[in-house]
Amino acid sequence: MSAVHIPGIKAPPSTAYKIVDVPENYRDVIQRHGIPGTFVGPGMEESPWVPFGDKAAIRHLAFDPRNNTFGNILWIKKAGVIGTHKHRGTVVMVCLEGSARYLEYDWVAGPGDFIYETPGLVHTLVSDHPEGCKLFGWLHGATEFYDDQGRFIETLDVWWFINHYESYCREHGIPINKQLYL
Ligand SMILES: [Fe+2]
Repeated sequence: MSAVHIPGIKAPPSTAYKIVDVPENYRDVIQRHGIPGTFVGPGMEESPWVPFGDKAAIRHLAFDPRNNTFGNILWIKKAGVIGTHKHRGTVVMVCLEGSARYLEYDWVAGPGDFIYETPGLVHTLVSDHPEGCKLFGWLHGATEFYDDQGRFIETLDVWWFINHYESYCREHGIPINKQLYL
């Protein structure tokens, strides 16, 4: 019996270097209600590094208040502890530079490594790398921070992250970048 050929895409079928008009039944609806996506370049005026304590900073990239979702780069500037936290949502992270790990696990994330965190996880983020690390994170929902006695301190959700960005911009005369708001 010969194998049945199942047609399928092995690669995108068009490599034409041009804008292609594709069918869309609901083009007008998308134009009225769709969200056009966003782009944030590398410039500090597009999004500055905002201090997060005295040994870390956050570069905010996107805020989606409808879904309590937000994206940013966390920069731990040298070896040290960020703190113990509990997730109430899911986090997708990629290590960009340096290394980071959690005291609770046996792995160490280096450049290009992928981290996925789920609701209910409690862990303590550290970097043992002399130059710290940069972590890209796409976060859903709230993260609760606790002190070294396990006492609840604060909930960091999309409102906290927006306020973190906007209050720094106000204090430093940096215009609010609308591209960060989905
Ligand atoms: Fe975490």
